[in-house]
Amino acid sequence: MNTNRRKFLRNISLGAGAVATGIPTLASAFDAATDEQMQRSSAKEKTPPRFNMCGYAAPKLDVVRVGIIGLGMRGSGAVSRLSYIDGLEITALCDKLPDRVTKAQATLEKRGRPKAKEYSGEEGWKALCESNDVDLIYTPTPWYLHAPIAIYAMKNGKHAATEVNAGLTLDECWQLVETSEATKKHMMMLENCCYDFFELLTLNMARNGLFGELIHAEGAYLHDLSREYLFNKNGYQDMWRLKQNYLHNGNLYPTHGLGPIAQCMNINRGDKMDYMTSMSSIDFTLGDIAKEMAARDDFFKEFVGKPYRGNMSTTCIRTNKGKTLMLQHDVSTIRPYSRIHLVSGTKGIAQKYPEPERIAFGHEWIKKEELDALYEKYTPPIVKHIGDIAREVGGHGGMDFMMDWRLIDCLRNGLPLDQNVYDAASWSCILPLSGRSVGKKSLTVDIPDFTRGAWQTNKPVDLTLDGGGNTGVRK
Ligand SMILES: NC(=O)c1ccc[n+]([C@@H]2O[C@H](COP(=O)([O-])OP(=O)(O)OC[C@H]3O[C@@H](n4cnc5c(N)ncnc54)[C@H](O)[C@@H]3O)[C@@H](O)[C@H]2O)c1
Repeated sequence: MNTNRRKFLRNISLGAGAVATGIPTLASAFDAATDEQMQRSSAKEKTPPRFNMCGYAAPKLDVVRVGIIGLGMRGSGAVSRLSYIDGLEITALCDKLPDRVTKAQATLEKRGRPKAKEYSGEEGWKALCESNDVDLIYTPTPWYLHAPIAIYAMKNGKHAATEVNAGLTLDECWQLVETSEATKKHMMMLENCCYDFFELLTLNMARNGLFGELIHAEGAYLHDLSREYLFNKNGYQDMWRLKQNYLHNGNLYPTHGLGPIAQCMNINRGDKMDYMTSMSSIDFTLGDIAKEMAARDDFFKEFVGKPYRGNMSTTCIRTNKGKTLMLQHDVSTIRPYSRIHLVSGTKGIAQKYPEPERIAFGHEWIKKEELDALYEKYTPPIVKHIGDIAREVGGHGGMDFMMDWRLIDCLRNGLPLDQNVYDAASWSCILPLSGRSVGKKSLTVDIPDFTRGAWQTNKPVDLTLDGGGNTGVRK
């Protein structure tokens, strides 16, 4: 582990005040699930949870005061989406770059919303977390700030909602769990793909037994980001996402594929991911693109000769109940977008990508009219209630808004959140664990039980709107 990283982790474990010493350096490629971290993790698994956050309902908040940290491509969209929700005020805005805060204020003004308090600079987020004007801290920053901000937010008495991935190392995943349990503050990873329309349909169908006993599921993030995003000077701020592609190995973005299938399989709520193995190709594109770009523009010279993560990463997971999951990640090969989203059981199968989405209960995929009838019968209450409005507000076709609305509705009504800290930690830990497995010739790696046994009795995700559903949306 490099010295800066060790220092950072030490600061985090020392407590909230100590975090104020500085922004973490980016994690180095192989320190995310070292032997040391694996040992620490298995020791933690043996300690009883301080409190079970699965099913935990925090006291109701009539109006949820939100502070948003990170106002880039994703964060500016979040400001706009959240400003449609009643019973919510965006009271604080923060970005390292002050002009991004100014732009977000303009969005609030356009939407007829009051001005928010402004924070900026490398460490402005700490003052926001410490302020008394926020209940929920919503964090669409680069990945390496997600866990530090969420931990600091909870220690300062705020609920934390963070973009994916929630943590980059095993230590970070455990710190999220321990802090949420100690503070009784929600920590939700904003896994929006759990709220996509076909994903919610398959979850409700699985719950109603239409696929029989689920046996196998597949998910992925297959999205060529290479030229348009990763190597775009005007894309990710300070090229942070390209840098992550040589600072980590394995599956860098497991949760979009994993979240929805984990919910179908009741992971952490009746079953648990037990162990996994990962294999990666070498890099066949990013290194070459770096050379090509650097030949035209000196700006890209620093990206030449870096140890880019392999293009395609494949992870296989076995659950405690003997089921299997397959995850893939590739953001640097030319191909159509896919998250696969396949669930297969003793009575049927659903598969979203390649589109069109399809379902089968025999050797043939069912016809469109039959699929429409299934949508009619098994669309869950959240989609019936807010789906059309969500499509209008937008954000990946509506799933982003459904997620935001449900989060605020749960906080306002004192309901447990659909995704808790154990989901965040176990879905995110595939990143460091896949890096470890790939680095050791696909060695089998145990997946920590962040629930420490509670998975056996935790209840599945609530698909009703019982006790809530009364949060309005502005025109
Ligand atoms: N769930 C999804 O569908 C989805 C889609 C896109 C992005 N994301 C996630 O959203 C996050 C942000 O991605 P993005 O595309 O907006 O990247 P971005 O680079 O456009 O935005 C990141 C922002 O964070 C700011 N920032 C950096 N350091 C900061 C600091 N110390 N304090 C405050 N602000 C700081 C940057 O200035 C920038 O404005 C990432 O985690 C990404 O994975 C999720």
